Amino acid sequence: MERRILVTGAVGQIGSELIPALRAKHGGENVIAVGHKKEPTEEFRSSGPYETADTTDKEEIKSLIEKYDINTIYHLVGVLSAVGEKKPDLAWSVNMDGLKNVLDLAVEYKIDRLFWPSSIAAFGPTTPLENTPQRTVLEPTTMYGVTKVAGELLCQYYFVKYGLDVRSLRYPGVISWKTPPGGGTTDYAVAIYYDAVQKGSYDCFVGEETVLPMMYMDDAVQATIQLMEAEPEKITVRTAYNLTAVSFSAKELADNVAKHVDGFTCTFTPDERQKIANSWPSSIDDSKAREDWGWSHKFGLDEISGDMITNLTNNQ
Ligand code: SER
Repeated sequence: MERRILVTGAVGQIGSELIPALRAKHGGENVIAVGHKKEPTEEFRSSGPYETADTTDKEEIKSLIEKYDINTIYHLVGVLSAVGEKKPDLAWSVNMDGLKNVLDLAVEYKIDRLFWPSSIAAFGPTTPLENTPQRTVLEPTTMYGVTKVAGELLCQYYFVKYGLDVRSLRYPGVISWKTPPGGGTTDYAVAIYYDAVQKGSYDCFVGEETVLPMMYMDDAVQATIQLMEAEPEKITVRTAYNLTAVSFSAKELADNVAKHVDGFTCTFTPDERQKIANSWPSSIDDSKAREDWGWSHKFGLDEISGDMITNLTNNQ
């Protein structure tokens, strides 16, 4: 089947890097990037169609599905954890109403495959936080996490009730250099590289003992594409798959950055995001993803640091 792909949240952290990968695979014209408020880069404008739409407005998404004869959707748009705590109503409306609109349209237009991102934020303080199992307690304490659990269940419901082929991943913190960090709790693991290159120092907003699961963007893009290309019978989880690459403490991260940037120093001044970080797992059991559709990661912390520093230095 020729894929005609719509990607919402195109200008966000994952969209900005997933879209070039999808365009390389399927052709620029077949991948419709949909942004909202943020301006796209020239790369987006020149490498394929770019549209502006608000996913909480069903008619706007509907007209794009019709206009481009869409059969595949990556619905990436979402308000992240830290912003979600400041604006819980906005997080609910964007994360839930937007998803419900896309699920309903996917059924109406017989969309062949739909991807929606979940997160480690679906877990909470009552979850076993070390080597967190695929199937476990889901009692998040952030609005972002609440929308992720509700969203996962909604996706599974549409699969069971309507046979919609919807697939999802519980992303860990994703580290990347193309877009500046934007409103998440795992942002410190991105911001540290920006500040290391620009200022030679970083003031980290979580304590040095904080350990969270993380992944490099190249691996996140690879996992997403691999999941979406897997044969439907391989997909045995219709809520969202656990996914991880490496876990490290904020101190280990800072020490590793110091190996790559001479003279780098890091201080630790925890703020309100520490509480969110404490409610999330320190490591994840993603063996189901590895068994079902062959997931394996490539980047460890040292490779991540090397690549981040090189790219941020070259793109200053
Ligand atoms: N990276 C996200 C956040 O920190 C978690 O999915 O909000």
